[in-house]
Amino acid sequence: MSDLRGKTAILTGAAQGLGYAIARAYAAEGMRVALMDVQRERLNQVADEVRALGGEALPIVVDLSDATATQIAADEALAVLGTPCVLVHNAALLREVPFAEVRFENWRRELDIILQAAFLLCKAVWQPMMAAGGGSIVLLSSGSGIKGFVNESAYCPGKHGQEGLMKVLSMEGAPHHIAVNTITPGAPINTPMSDSNYSPEMKLKWVDPALLAPAFVYLAKQGAAGLTGERLSAWDVSEQIRAGQITL
Ligand SMILES: NC(=O)c1ccc[n+]([C@@H]2O[C@H](COP(=O)([O-])OP(=O)(O)OC[C@H]3O[C@@H](n4cnc5c(N)ncnc54)[C@H](O)[C@@H]3O)[C@@H](O)[C@H]2O)c1
Repeated sequence: MSDLRGKTAILTGAAQGLGYAIARAYAAEGMRVALMDVQRERLNQVADEVRALGGEALPIVVDLSDATATQIAADEALAVLGTPCVLVHNAALLREVPFAEVRFENWRRELDIILQAAFLLCKAVWQPMMAAGGGSIVLLSSGSGIKGFVNESAYCPGKHGQEGLMKVLSMEGAPHHIAVNTITPGAPINTPMSDSNYSPEMKLKWVDPALLAPAFVYLAKQGAAGLTGERLSAWDVSEQIRAGQITL
């Protein structure tokens, strides 16, 4: 498969958790990574780590619930680092609140980070990827992308929406060699989001998100005649890579 050295990635939610693990994996491949997150201090620390690992980092502090700010962030990433071979929209917010108590502004914010930003970021890279002859788009899904869970009246529709967007874009992207997939962690992961939402039993089984990172290296290499239109498990793909069933 293709060498990722010197190629560009756009990654959201890079300041912590799974996004941080993906940032480190892309850095180890020698990629140029636009790192987007709302947490300035943590993002700058991650950028320093990416550079120390041999990657190039462009930290972009942005609130992805803000449409204009999201477009400006995407434009900056494209202007500075060029067309990405991969876009990973990983940022999300999960606030578990009973529907009776959800306020519209909070519902809207959660949905906008997950789905509106997915639309805007895909839109920003679409023409450049077409012009470049292809690319790979990865949207972070969840069990909440296909099932309902109580107290998730924003997160669940957002993740369902990402699955729908993936289905449409994978069809429209195919003639242009743009691969579009969703991916779920596929295993309980030790991240700040999990820390506030997992039961004590789930925390007994959670794994380091770095164990899921190989799947994102694999997906960065899609595009052209690659895997598209799939809902994948990062754990399963990473396990297949470790077992030698998939070669990077
Ligand atoms: N943790 C899990 O068990 C789990 C399960 C299923 C799916 N996922 C998905 O995996 C992805 C990563 O999850 P995680 O556990 O690492 O989450 P996390 O909360 O630990 O990290 C999410 C990152 O997104 C950033 N972010 C949140 N709101 C933002 C905003 N408005 N603008 C910019 N950045 C913003 C945060 O600052 C943070 O760095 C998410 O899409 C999540 O929905 C996680």
